Amino acid sequence: MHKRKSWWLLIFVSLGVIIPFMAPYLMLDPDSSRVTITSKAIQYPALVTHIVFAFIALVTGFFQFVDRFHLKKPKLHRFLGRTYVGSIVISSLLSLVVVLYIDNFTKSVAFLTLTILWLFTTLKGYRKAVKRSFNEHRKWMIRSFGVTLVAVSGRIVVPVLLLAYYTLNGFTFPDGRDKMIEEVLHVNIWIGIVLNLVIVEWIILKSPKGHKN
Ligand code: HEM
Repeated sequence: MHKRKSWWLLIFVSLGVIIPFMAPYLMLDPDSSRVTITSKAIQYPALVTHIVFAFIALVTGFFQFVDRFHLKKPKLHRFLGRTYVGSIVISSLLSLVVVLYIDNFTKSVAFLTLTILWLFTTLKGYRKAVKRSFNEHRKWMIRSFGVTLVAVSGRIVVPVLLLAYYTLNGFTFPDGRDKMIEEVLHVNIWIGIVLNLVIVEWIILKSPKGHKN
């Protein structure tokens, strides 16, 4: 598929997945949260603010990889880049707060790993831009955006994991359907992380500038 067309398809799919997930939180009503809220004073505001800044990062991130923008409008690229980095710093620090309220260890460590990867790849990409190592900057920002997109891939893999659970249990639900969904939501972020990191390294390696510094 043409590069630009597949990029638009990725934007379309990502927004199509994320917007319905975000919608209940924009009403600012803790009772409509899908995530179980145990603290209306800390967990809920941290979660909502995390979501708003993560969304800004997702949208600005998409613009940053459109050639027309960063080649022809370097000032706009710099402004959107700072917005991307700033939103990720705010959103990831807030997700550290949200992680404290997750009651399952496998799931909380997945989000913790995701937070560390998000901060690390993004700050690395930012430093490379400041130091004017633009090829390295490009690679780290591709990695950073790959991590941002775990929010999308982690949710896309859910139906596949539901099917895998059902199949691996001999086409039964041994502990009921709710238990199946719970189990799947403990591992989906892990699968999203592995998948996106592999895809991103593949993109970097096959790009013409991939082997240079
Ligand atoms: C990539 C780094 C990210 C990290 C570390 C992260 C962290 C978290 C955490 C810890 C939760 C709470 C999960 C729970 O308690 O069950 C959460 C929920 C959520 N996040 Fe993020 N997030 C990230 C990226 C994003 C992005 C890019 C978006 C896009 C807007 C986003 C939107 C959401 C939404 C909508 C929820 C609520 C999910 C639900 O209702 O099931 N997150 N995130």
